[in-house]
Amino acid sequence: MKLLGTGSSLPKIQVTNDDLSEFLDTNDEWIFPRTGIKSRHVISDEKLEDLAVDAALKAVENARVQLSELDMIICSNVVNEYVTPGLSCIVASKLGVSCPCFDINCACPGFIYAMDMADSYFRSGKVRKVLIVCAEEPSRMINWADRSVCVLFGDGAGAAVFGEGDKLKGTRLSAQPDPEKLYEIHKLQNTPYINKEEAEVPLVMRGREVFKFAVTTSARDIKNILADTGLTPGQVSYYMIHQANLRIIDAIRDNLGVEPEKFPTNIRDHGNSSSASCPILLDECNRAGMFKEGDILVFSAFGAGLLSATAVLEW
Ligand code: UT7
Repeated sequence: MKLLGTGSSLPKIQVTNDDLSEFLDTNDEWIFPRTGIKSRHVISDEKLEDLAVDAALKAVENARVQLSELDMIICSNVVNEYVTPGLSCIVASKLGVSCPCFDINCACPGFIYAMDMADSYFRSGKVRKVLIVCAEEPSRMINWADRSVCVLFGDGAGAAVFGEGDKLKGTRLSAQPDPEKLYEIHKLQNTPYINKEEAEVPLVMRGREVFKFAVTTSARDIKNILADTGLTPGQVSYYMIHQANLRIIDAIRDNLGVEPEKFPTNIRDHGNSSSASCPILLDECNRAGMFKEGDILVFSAFGAGLLSATAVLEW
């Protein structure tokens, strides 16, 4: 498959580190050097589905395709207000299309997992145009009194439209299952038969362990996919890394021995927006005119699961 267009959409409220320090025992001096984050967008009166639809419409327009041409919508999402139907159905209904659609919950690497799935549908000849929408509101998963977690995340949506072609050069998905490192638990409806203890648990993250997982798996995944595709680190035009922490991105870069210019980042203004992070970054770079035909983009993302994924895409 090949990429035809990108889009993104962000909540209007931008919360700075100084804003957080008004109600939390934290400050910019702690947050910025440890994470690279200065501010993040946070949902207020918006609905996540509206951000998803906005990002999707921008991607469809950027791709110069008609909504009626879409053969499939894949939504990557961890939580939204609906349990059912899937966010993809809500997006499809707002777009006025009736192609098959489904959601995946692969946390931060969701965009790459979705690309991998879309690629299989293209290879089987079942689709000609696929819309991927990654929409996330981690601000609704966290405990806003837990400074170790809530300063890291931001909300948003990123989308991409793919068509037939041979520009996705490879994908690699991997898992090191360990639900205890990064999770949120929510309570289901009660029934007359439930006699076990249940509790709402806002997002828990074993930060240092996730940090180590991120750096080691991302560097390993990238080296593996470069070997698969016969590329050297220097032949890659841009590394599109999940924006979880600038120190993670720097450590991956050091490990690969590549110059910083090849690692675009937007974490400073967005924080970690889970699976929306890579497609928002992709859209911002696209709209800034950074890419030229033939450029090689390597995506790498890691997160809850623990899951990680990487992909090589030629522009
Ligand atoms: O997308 C999913 C993937 N997620 C990630 O990749 C995140 C990976 N992890 C990280 O990015 C880092 O581990 C963090 C940024 C989350 C934490 O950085 P750290 O250098 O590992 O700090 P820490 O958790 O070890 O905390 C160090 C100190 C603690 O104080 P004491 O115990 O040393 O007195 C914390 O209580 O910093 C304190 N602290 C804070 N202080 C001010 C933790 N959070 C804050 C805060 N403001 N927001």
